[in-house]
Amino acid sequence: MRVFSGIQATGAKHIGNYIGAMRQYVETQEENDAFFCVVDLHSITSDYDPQDLHDRTLDLAALLYAVGLAPDKCTLFLQSHVTGHAEAAWLLSAVTGFGQLGRMTQFKEKGEGKDFVSAGLFTYPVLMAGDILLYQTDIVPVGDDQRQHIELARDLAERFNSRFGQTFKVPRGVFPEVGARIMDLQEPTKKMSTTGGTPQGTVLVLDPPDVIRKKFKTAVTDSGREVRYAPDEKPGVSNLIEILSVASGTAIPEVEASYDGRGYGDLKGDVGEAVVQLFAPMQERYAELRADEAELRRLLRVGAEKARETSAPTLADMYERMGFVRP
Ligand code: TYM
Repeated sequence: MRVFSGIQATGAKHIGNYIGAMRQYVETQEENDAFFCVVDLHSITSDYDPQDLHDRTLDLAALLYAVGLAPDKCTLFLQSHVTGHAEAAWLLSAVTGFGQLGRMTQFKEKGEGKDFVSAGLFTYPVLMAGDILLYQTDIVPVGDDQRQHIELARDLAERFNSRFGQTFKVPRGVFPEVGARIMDLQEPTKKMSTTGGTPQGTVLVLDPPDVIRKKFKTAVTDSGREVRYAPDEKPGVSNLIEILSVASGTAIPEVEASYDGRGYGDLKGDVGEAVVQLFAPMQERYAELRADEAELRRLLRVGAEKARETSAPTLADMYERMGFVRP
């Protein structure tokens, strides 16, 4: 199956990104033809610093290899290296409803209370749909917050197919069973995010071990003692249980059972330690990969070449079916 997913270049990557998305990338590259994209073009839709975009893009590429993406098993590339993504977004805008974009919750959330809301923030989901559709994608591994965007991509594929003739495969989102929505450790009713969350409640993949332990130690829970998985009733504790389940490879009921007669203090200590162990080898690999920028850029050039070759026929079909005279 063809797999495609994208991740924003800017913003430090956190354990929500790892559990909700990166972990699935690493799994799906094994048995599928997988494409992963650092979506740098998406990063200019909110206020950003050019130097930061530049550095973070390379940081993220190194991090993705460090968490386990292998150059010989998948294709990793930068979105701006394949100009077809920007072209596809423009072409797809012809079949996108203005009202449909206005209903996107992410647009509403990110635009709320801002002095300046860019047109790019509004059209962002069209670019994302193009990313996916250009690759005749079967499955899109993502976290829960991308559901509405995937629905839009499916919708645009169907509308384009019926208006201009069969062109795109209609993709399907896949969401992890555990950890599709990791919550902020300080405000466990909000999803973990570097833009909307609290710094103390956001655990970064590259946080030093002591910082990770401290963030978990000070995580907000309810006033009870019972370690039980009940997201609506006990969001803080349930979030910690999910993280421990993933970090230790133990099913949720077993995690619950192992805390019989023990309290939240033990749970917080154990999650912190499990996450430190999970990230330690990744942090080590990251430091090595990031230090060799020439090699990193070489790998990204190879990825872009493959991505260009794979997406070009679909882009050509789009132009042709829409009536453009080809050069
Ligand atoms: P982005 O960069 O915000 O997030 C990258 C991935 O991380 C997941 N994620 C989470 N999962 C669980 N808990 C959380 N708290 C959490 N926060 C983030 C996201 O669901 C995502 O899978 N629009 C996309 C990027 C994109 C894309 C695409 C994705 C652009 N084109 C094509 C898939 C296919 C975004 O901003 O993700």
